[in-house]
Amino acid sequence: MLTIFLISLVSIIFIHQLYKYAVDRPEGFPPGPPRLPLFGSYLFMLLINHNYLHKAVLSLSKWYKSDIVGLYVGKFRVAVVHNGEGVRELLNNQACDGRPALYLSRMRDPGDGVRGIFFQEGLLWKEQRRFILRFLRDYGFGRRFDQLEMVINEEITDMIDLIRNGPRYEHEHLLVKPGGYRIQLPMFFNPFSANSHFSIVYNERIPRAEMANVVKLVQLGLQFQRNADDYGRLLSIIPWIRHIFPETSGYKKLNESNQYIYKFFADFVDRHIETYDESCERNFLDLYIAEMKKELPEEYGFNREQFIMGLVDFSLPAFTGLGVQLAMIVQYLMIYPEVAKRIQHEIDEVVGSGRLPTLEDRDKMPYTEATIRENLRMETLVPSDVPHKALEDTELMGYRIPKDTVVLASLYAMHSDKRIWKDPENFRPERFLDDDGKLCLKKDVSLPFGAGKRLCAGETFARNLLFLMTTAMLQNFDYTLAPGDSLPDVSKNESGLIISPPDFWVQLKER
Ligand code: HEM
Repeated sequence: MLTIFLISLVSIIFIHQLYKYAVDRPEGFPPGPPRLPLFGSYLFMLLINHNYLHKAVLSLSKWYKSDIVGLYVGKFRVAVVHNGEGVRELLNNQACDGRPALYLSRMRDPGDGVRGIFFQEGLLWKEQRRFILRFLRDYGFGRRFDQLEMVINEEITDMIDLIRNGPRYEHEHLLVKPGGYRIQLPMFFNPFSANSHFSIVYNERIPRAEMANVVKLVQLGLQFQRNADDYGRLLSIIPWIRHIFPETSGYKKLNESNQYIYKFFADFVDRHIETYDESCERNFLDLYIAEMKKELPEEYGFNREQFIMGLVDFSLPAFTGLGVQLAMIVQYLMIYPEVAKRIQHEIDEVVGSGRLPTLEDRDKMPYTEATIRENLRMETLVPSDVPHKALEDTELMGYRIPKDTVVLASLYAMHSDKRIWKDPENFRPERFLDDDGKLCLKKDVSLPFGAGKRLCAGETFARNLLFLMTTAMLQNFDYTLAPGDSLPDVSKNESGLIISPPDFWVQLKER
């Protein structure tokens, strides 16, 4: 009798503790699903929509009738914001400018110390971001700069030559089929955007013949982006899973990518450190090395390892994300040929065919600009933004957010919110134009590059390149379907750290 009583008592206490664990949340924390031991609410999210976690969390937000939901991913307490005001409030709240130490961020660094820009916070992040942005600007990053525009023009000329004449070097076979006019996306644009960016950082362009390493870098960069998710997959929750399931956990591919990317930039950095001569400033790297030689406080982070990871972070989006967004623009131009025709009309009027489009033309081409903006809204490259973290106890949308909570701004939810866009499901560049057909920036309340102090550091560079490459392509070519091809299906675009279309080949025709 006593035994039965004791077993019942222990069971009741156990069930009570389990129940408390599942539903307990800090006072004033946003509503959300219960949590399971070890996994938190992550398994529920996988069950709701394992392909698109940002959609799964949006479903939870609807389920709980709250634009902000609170949940657990493993041991991480998370709050996700789903409406325009909330997203702005979060991104402009400096108490939310931290970054969580997800396993994904640690594993990029062979020293297992979180360095770089993306996953840094505090003084080191501030100093590094400020320094890099300040001095990359001297070489044309984030502003109008004739020399850089000439380099981009040369890159685009090479790109068009590659389309017309087909691959000249082995590594170009990954980009274009022999005979030309058939390109592989989303790979194709990335080596050219990467090289434009490298010319800012190194003050030199890598010649086409020597681009094999860059093409490999792009491949592995895409592999990294595709094998993660908004929360760093199960690896963030149970990092030891990598020893048991190195393939299915994504670890093997992520690790292969990280190692190649790190070595690529480490080689550059080391070569520059070895040949550094303080009497001759060759490029941005020399400015950074000069800073390393000053005896600055350690917290500022001017050392070799931070240098490498800072470069990785400032370059990764240029050799992955940019080309992916361009590929998604191509998808829409193929699905909506009338939009492509209208852009071509604008190009013919403003640029003609005797020269490539320049940034000078951009203001005069509102429909083109509106199309790019509409694509950035509908195919939000970073749907859950890069995760932020509360650096101290704070508030969001009237809820209490304790220190160390991971806070996510669902740019996807904001960009597909009927309350903001009325018909978010329709691709309609006109929504950003006024009655006279002029671009009306007030109507573009989308935030594809985030906002606040953590705003994308490459926004201007990215917008410039999206314009220059999209228009150069449409000036010269039509996107068509070869026999056996079908129109892109954007519902098959895959979710990783960024959204990206599966590899596909596109047929071009001379205009
Ligand atoms: C279409 C292209 C791009 C899109 C849509 C995009 C979007 C974003 C977003 C949403 C963030 C996170 C902002 C936040 O944490 O709240 C971000 C961060 C960042 N982006 Fe971009 N990006 C693009 C291209 C680029 C390029 C080309 C570069 C550099 C060459 C770049 C450099 C960065 C850096 C360094 C950060 C981290 C900022 C920080 O943590 O302080 N991005 N980007």
